Amino acid sequence: MAASLPSEATANWWRDAAIYQIYVRSFADGDGDGTGDLAGVRAKLPHLVELGVDAIWFTPWYLSPLADGGYDVADYRTIDPAFGSLAEAEKLIAQARELGIRTIVDVVPNHVSDQHAWFRAALAAGPGSPERELFHFRTGRGTDGELPPNDWVSEFGGVPWTRLEDGEWYLHLFATQQPDLNWAHPAVRHEHEDVLRFWFERGVSGVRIDSAALLVKDPALPDFVKGRDPHPFTDRDELHDIYRSWRAIADEYGAVFVGEVWLPDSERFARYLRPDELHTAFNFNFLACPWAAGRLRTAIDGTIAEHASVGAPATWVLCNHDVTRTVTRYGREDTEFDFGAKSFGTPTDLALGTRRARAAALLSLALPGAAYLYQGEELGLPEADIPRDRIQDPMHFRSGGTDPGRDGCRVPLPWSAQAPYAGFGSTAEPWLPQPADWSSYAADRQSADPQSMLSLYREALRLRRTEPGFRVAAGSGAQQMTWLPSAPGVLAFTRTGGLICVANLGAEPVELPGHTDILLTSGPLDGEGRLPQDTTAWLRN
Ligand code: NOJ
Repeated sequence: MAASLPSEATANWWRDAAIYQIYVRSFADGDGDGTGDLAGVRAKLPHLVELGVDAIWFTPWYLSPLADGGYDVADYRTIDPAFGSLAEAEKLIAQARELGIRTIVDVVPNHVSDQHAWFRAALAAGPGSPERELFHFRTGRGTDGELPPNDWVSEFGGVPWTRLEDGEWYLHLFATQQPDLNWAHPAVRHEHEDVLRFWFERGVSGVRIDSAALLVKDPALPDFVKGRDPHPFTDRDELHDIYRSWRAIADEYGAVFVGEVWLPDSERFARYLRPDELHTAFNFNFLACPWAAGRLRTAIDGTIAEHASVGAPATWVLCNHDVTRTVTRYGREDTEFDFGAKSFGTPTDLALGTRRARAAALLSLALPGAAYLYQGEELGLPEADIPRDRIQDPMHFRSGGTDPGRDGCRVPLPWSAQAPYAGFGSTAEPWLPQPADWSSYAADRQSADPQSMLSLYREALRLRRTEPGFRVAAGSGAQQMTWLPSAPGVLAFTRTGGLICVANLGAEPVELPGHTDILLTSGPLDGEGRLPQDTTAWLRN
């Protein structure tokens, strides 16, 4: 079975893979109850084969009260019954693998659900118990312990401490229902190593590590002092020892890691990618970058340089389940992504955003390294406006209702234009409402249209796999691309394999550089064969 995989020939599949992110709850509903599930994913595997992806990353599919969309894990060895069963997950992993698609699962080591057996035991055991040592329980400050133990701010906003009836407080960098684990405790390390093995044993090829730079805390849990190194809970040196031990386990199985590492400092970021640590990490600098040639070029150069320093491949990401969908973001005045700047009612030009998203797709898929796609990106879905009374994301509530939250990019996918709920599969209403025009984005409609976003992604991924211009020339090492001279506002580069990519972000149309064939463009050339604004071309040389 595995021998039929084209990428099986190399253990380095992950260095240039196209990896598709599935947010299970919203991908496809196999049993009609309004929530996506594993049966739905299995039914849609042909879509992923036709799209041409090498791997799927599943956001957490484990038992969870879904207080944070599954990033509140109650049991890593059980699939949430809303999604299916462990047997179905095993079947799905095997079936995908037969089709040439590998599976990456999500592990959330910073915290667990407040319904996890460990946390329930810690609550029951009370102050001073060994059960509480697995978490960060503290007494409060103030005359009566009525104030939180320190001044930290939650990643979701607000105070990251909750007080219990017995008077103790517990730390949660995210929502109240996500108590942080104490990584200084050997049982925490041991348990996670066991969880990794559990999934590797089931044929999983990789693990995405949630909040990978946050696990370790200063044991004194001191107040935050701006500029003081090390930070009390971000990017602490002790983390690297944890990832070295994880790497040794992954190596036993030939599996790989992708870390969710949000760090602006490129030298610190690259430390996670040293040869005995994580294989890859998400490129958030590129993801958050505005649609501006200079900024993108700086982000690309920075990415290539930081990865070259440790011999790791770059990743290229335009969106995921946490950020504003690309066609919406690029259609706004401010095209940068910033969690703190999100607000309701931002004016958006979707036609402009879609043109830019098409150009950005070809730009990012031409860059050397691995590429991540988020479900619905291939359909050009916009960010949906969720009625306030239907919002579920804790980020919205913890902002006091000012942040629209992340549900707008998590709306159940449209598969068939004519079917109820745009073919998501539900007979009951989907867990998040779909916008009225959702069926116009349906996969079946786009499949039949050569100009659609879906057709663009299919053709781009096909060329990315088959076109010799994308091959990495032997001995080229990190130097897999070279910038070509270009007009201001234009990004033009050649890959060592010969592909030329030109993206025009400037106002004026530009001549294409010398080439033998035009492989693909994100939009039509003008009447004189020039590349218009917000358009990317792939050329064969
Ligand atoms: C990052 C995940 O991508 C996000 O969805 C989640 O809310 C936080 N980590 C907490 O687990």
